Amino acid sequence: MAPSLLSRTLQGVAVTSVASVGAFFVWTKHSQMTPLDRFTPATEPLFRSPWYSKFNPLQNPTTHDECIRRIPLFKLRPELVEDAQKGGSKLVEAFSQGIWGGPGYAIQRLYLQRKYRNDTTTAHQLWTPEELKTSTYDKGTEITDHFVVLDKTPSSILIRCGDSPLHNPDTNRPSDGLFEISATTDLNQGFAEFRLKSIFYQGEGEVPDKTKQPMTGYMLYLHTLYTKLWMESAMSRVKQ
Ligand SMILES: *[C@@H]1O[C@H](CO)[C@@H](O)[C@H](O)[C@H]1NC(C)=O
Repeated sequence: MAPSLLSRTLQGVAVTSVASVGAFFVWTKHSQMTPLDRFTPATEPLFRSPWYSKFNPLQNPTTHDECIRRIPLFKLRPELVEDAQKGGSKLVEAFSQGIWGGPGYAIQRLYLQRKYRNDTTTAHQLWTPEELKTSTYDKGTEITDHFVVLDKTPSSILIRCGDSPLHNPDTNRPSDGLFEISATTDLNQGFAEFRLKSIFYQGEGEVPDKTKQPMTGYMLYLHTLYTKLWMESAMSRVKQ
């Protein structure tokens, strides 16, 4: 999800290889991108999080979006719904397990594994589908040397992307981003809501042109498709 050229390329490969383009749109049709006038720095709490101010201190321009997928509660694994009703975190954990351990992330995972996995420095990170499908994604969890969990609540997991968690864990990066995974249930309306929020920015140095977003055009479009791919491929982990 980092806006590096490599990640962008991998996103394209992932999107085109998982499904033919027509089938892809049918398969992801239940995922909606929130209209950008409803997901703004003024309305979205993630922009007010201490992590955001810390990692984008100069308020550089952002590329940000949100993908929402609603699903009827009866289609979900009952134990996850029950746990969510009691304030537990199993639903968002299963959603996260589905994202990182599922087919949507497989190509990027295999690439990162070949390049960055070894028995010493990165051995403690999550790498295999088994690890990714069982982790509870607690604060500090490192994923394939590319993502780290900054924060966790019973319904959300906040992740930093953009570089190895081993580099500059506490300082600003030229290319940085926050990625929030959340899952909530509405018993009255009978559905669960899954959200993926992304905010990308240049965290180090000031961008003079405040309208210059880190991601535009085709790359932005590809990122949207990749987000939908992650969303839909994670659903198999929460559905019964
Ligand atoms: C293991 O991989 C990490 C990430 O690429 C690297 O920083 C580290 O130097 C590697 N360690 C060894 C012993 O190769």
